[in-house]
Amino acid sequence: MAAIGIDRVTAALGAEIRGVDLREPLAPAVVREIEQALLEHGVLFFREQDIDPEQQKTFARHFGEISVPPFAPKHGSDPEYIVLDQVAPKGQGADQWHSDNTFIERPPMGSILKAVKLPPVGGDTCFASSFAAYEALSPPMQALCDGLRAVHDITRPLQKAIEHGQSNEDLEQLQQRFPPVEHPVVRTHPVTGRRGLFVNRNSTTRIVGLSERENEALLPFLCDHVRSPAFQCRFHWDTHSIVFWDNRSVQHFAVADYDERRVMHRVTLEGDEPH
Ligand code: SIN
Repeated sequence: MAAIGIDRVTAALGAEIRGVDLREPLAPAVVREIEQALLEHGVLFFREQDIDPEQQKTFARHFGEISVPPFAPKHGSDPEYIVLDQVAPKGQGADQWHSDNTFIERPPMGSILKAVKLPPVGGDTCFASSFAAYEALSPPMQALCDGLRAVHDITRPLQKAIEHGQSNEDLEQLQQRFPPVEHPVVRTHPVTGRRGLFVNRNSTTRIVGLSERENEALLPFLCDHVRSPAFQCRFHWDTHSIVFWDNRSVQHFAVADYDERRVMHRVTLEGDEPH
């Protein structure tokens, strides 16, 4: 008998998980089922999980090592525990379709985000399946994309964070420490083998080997392709909701439609080199 309850959200992705209390130690069978659910549904939603930072990190460690991102908003003091604290989120970066930190060689495997303080209305997060996006392309377009690689660069997301007062990092220093990297445009999921589009408007700057004009036509098309509601689901947060997404196969978009404080706590898991 299954240890957890799973209610799917849309045909493309997402599942609400029932019957789990993250304040308690998790049985190995529960961990396995959550892991399996993540692979199948891409993003998991847990409600009413009033856990503290240590409990959030303990939950994360069931699924891998916690990663320390190259830069994070300046609010927290624990580099493994990221505090997102926003009042005027428009243009800060999370309101673009993206996967987290694709500008490093080994982008995170996943992120676990908890709602701490929410505006009275707004502040939902949307998720999109990069598998569904890739699979909806025509076979000739898939064949073209299959062979391509793209450059991902820290500059744009870091610049936005600095401009909006979210980061005190030195742009040039971080650019030197984290030079642009290349990833395949179509990534094969390391566990399931399913293929998904792996470019995003935040960090992907160009497709390798294409002319400037070809880049201007193809890259925005691929980045914007995830915008179709057919590939998406949308989560309306309550305080103490937790969302766990697979950063290898899911993109997200934080809706910037509020102007009162919204505080979220995130733990990010180490990933591997995309292939
Ligand atoms: C993120 O982009 O990682 C944050 C998502 C959110 O605040 O909803």
